[in-house]
Amino acid sequence: MTKGLFITFEGADGCGKTTQIELLDKYLREKGQQTLLTREPGAKGLGVKLREILLNYDGEVSPQCESFLFLADRAQHVDCIIKPALKEGKVVLCDRHTDSTVAYQGYGRGLDLSRINMLNDIATSGLKPDLTIVFDIDVETSMQRVGKEKDRMESSGVEFFNKVREGYLEIAEKEPNRVKVINSSDTIENIHKKVVELIEKL
Ligand SMILES: Nc1ncnc2c1ncn2[C@@H]1O[C@H](COP(=O)(O)OP(=O)(O)O)[C@@H](O)[C@H]1O
Ligand SMILES: [Mg+2]
Repeated sequence: MTKGLFITFEGADGCGKTTQIELLDKYLREKGQQTLLTREPGAKGLGVKLREILLNYDGEVSPQCESFLFLADRAQHVDCIIKPALKEGKVVLCDRHTDSTVAYQGYGRGLDLSRINMLNDIATSGLKPDLTIVFDIDVETSMQRVGKEKDRMESSGVEFFNKVREGYLEIAEKEPNRVKVINSSDTIENIHKKVVELIEKL
């Protein structure tokens, strides 16, 4: 069984995941916690190569293929990086994980949700986050934050991102114990305080 804590950060591009995960990592380290700050896709090693394809490949990518690439990265990440860190008792902070596939490929691209859940289960061998924080923000603001330099996923358009946002909110409704939503149109400092409150409750 796992000894550490597994916390995932979710939400559309530009919602502030990376900003907040770095602040929380610093906060926990200063409190003497051992942490692992990691991300999907592409934490390290093979994952970095998969990330390069997923975010920068400029030819046609079928939704199914896209899902399998994300899932391949996830399986490698869980087995080789996340599980060993949890065994060592670390707090694992992960920037995107299973809910991204549900929100983006399921709600966003329209793939069957029950199949995605099943595939996620296979990729993670059933490992579930202890806590997932969804940073919720309107699409216009998040797109402004991302700016002009968009990668392949970020270039998917407003309609797609509205579906992704709705997807995240539905996930949170379905699993209220695991998934907490933070309104991310607030300041970076206020959002950080809310994140810390959620972590302290664990
Ligand atoms: N609460 C906030 N208010 C204003 N700008 C923010 C806020 N949080 C993050 N940003 C800025 O928005 C951009 C995207 O944030 P980032 O943390 O990279 O989002 P994500 O990792 O979810 O894509 C960055 O330039 C960041 O500094
Ligand atoms: Mg980020």
